[in-house]
Amino acid sequence: MEVVILAAGQGKRMRSVLPKVLQPLAGRPLLAHVLSSARALGARQICVVYGHGGEAVRSRLNAPDVVWVEQSQQLGTGHAVQQAMPCLSDESQVLVLYGDVPLIGAHTLTRLMDAAGRDRLALLTVKLDDPVGYGRILRDGAGRVTRIVEEKDATSDERHVHEVNTGILVAPAAKLRDWLDRIGNDNVQGEYYLTDIIGLAVSDGVEVATVAPDDVSETLGVNSKEQLSALERMFQASVAHRLMDAGVTLIDPARLDVRGELVCGCDVEIDVNCVFEGRVELGDGVAVGANCVLRDVRIGNGTRIAPFSHLDGTATGQACVLGPFARTRPGTVLANGVHIGNFVEIKNSNIADDSKANHLSYIGDADVGMRVNIGAGTITCNYDGANKYRTEIGDDAFIGSDTQLVAPVRVGQGATLGAGTTLTRDAPPGQLTVSRARQQSHAGWARPAKKSGE
Ligand code: UD1
Ligand code: CA
Repeated sequence: MEVVILAAGQGKRMRSVLPKVLQPLAGRPLLAHVLSSARALGARQICVVYGHGGEAVRSRLNAPDVVWVEQSQQLGTGHAVQQAMPCLSDESQVLVLYGDVPLIGAHTLTRLMDAAGRDRLALLTVKLDDPVGYGRILRDGAGRVTRIVEEKDATSDERHVHEVNTGILVAPAAKLRDWLDRIGNDNVQGEYYLTDIIGLAVSDGVEVATVAPDDVSETLGVNSKEQLSALERMFQASVAHRLMDAGVTLIDPARLDVRGELVCGCDVEIDVNCVFEGRVELGDGVAVGANCVLRDVRIGNGTRIAPFSHLDGTATGQACVLGPFARTRPGTVLANGVHIGNFVEIKNSNIADDSKANHLSYIGDADVGMRVNIGAGTITCNYDGANKYRTEIGDDAFIGSDTQLVAPVRVGQGATLGAGTTLTRDAPPGQLTVSRARQQSHAGWARPAKKSGE
């Protein structure tokens, strides 16, 4: 089986400089969704017919398994498929898909291919209450498909047919080649219609089968931002259903956005308005509070993430508590039982078991030991304007509030830093280190008084 994906359309109604097939659905280009379905079928070859924004499409998709075919002038769907014919071998069945019909699923397509067998033509059709705009499926008295007529070319009787062409079909390559050579553009739109091959197949005595999709959403195309958002919600709804089927508690399945891969353990609970990007793994018993954004993270069993936290490129151990308003950036590795509180930013740092930074801190390029307490307002000064340096904090250290650790610098095991310390040299283990002016009180001091006459 070989696949041809039509993706040459400009998508004027998107009103965007981005080619239509690169518009994102669930964080991935529309075309990437179609490619995933094609790959899931084990296609021997995938040809994408591109036109508008060709280079942008090719580089964004970065799909080395795809054969790209340019259609410089868009003369119709039949002409588009014809551009791919030189790449296809005569023995195969050819599946035609569309770069702007992203929800098409491998299960429906497998049924379509089964219906086509080795030498039949198979069409994916749906019955719509409102068929306006679609090509209509015409059948004879015995119910056999005779041809497809486009809306614009249809008589008013034909327009009353509710069974429509989704555009998706499977045809034997050698015959398809022959039929495409024979179609013309003598129609209202002056286009070479792919749909004209159905009439030719029937007159050649080739059997035409029809299959309905598992779900109508699989056949919906995207022409506008409005339709894009409608498909986004359908996609997210199906992700939410899969998660709930697997036992995940979603406080509101309509307020979940997964733009990548979300893998959940047992008894995971996700509150409203959370966004998951890239690959996210949540261990058993993890709870994610409302309004969190998690990107490329791995969260250990029993860890709780309080509302409004933003975690990126982060791994946590078990039973940690993060947030509310925690921000972790790439390279953050938290061991077990770590607490990261509000307005704490962590980057490229390792924090060992049971350490806490509960309020208003920046910890960058640091290695923090076990049971360390980092007071409010602590900052690692990791950057001198040119280079970055590491801060090391030993087990059981206590970092007083409002401390600056000017890296590279080390805090020994069990050391205590007094509040307000600016640490520029290593702090020895077990000792109190403090760097601030001694407090003084002046008895008998009086405030200056205003001079008279001024
Ligand atoms: C097509 C079908 C119609 C079907 C409908 C389903 C034909 C003649 N008609 O109509 O029966 O009901 O889809 O949505 O096939 N494309 C190219 N190159 C071209 C022309 C189109 O790549 O020269 C691509 C477009 O980017 C689009 C797809 O093919 O993704 C469909 O083209 P469009 O012009 O929208 O066809 P419709 O008129 O909607
Ligand atoms: Ca269309």
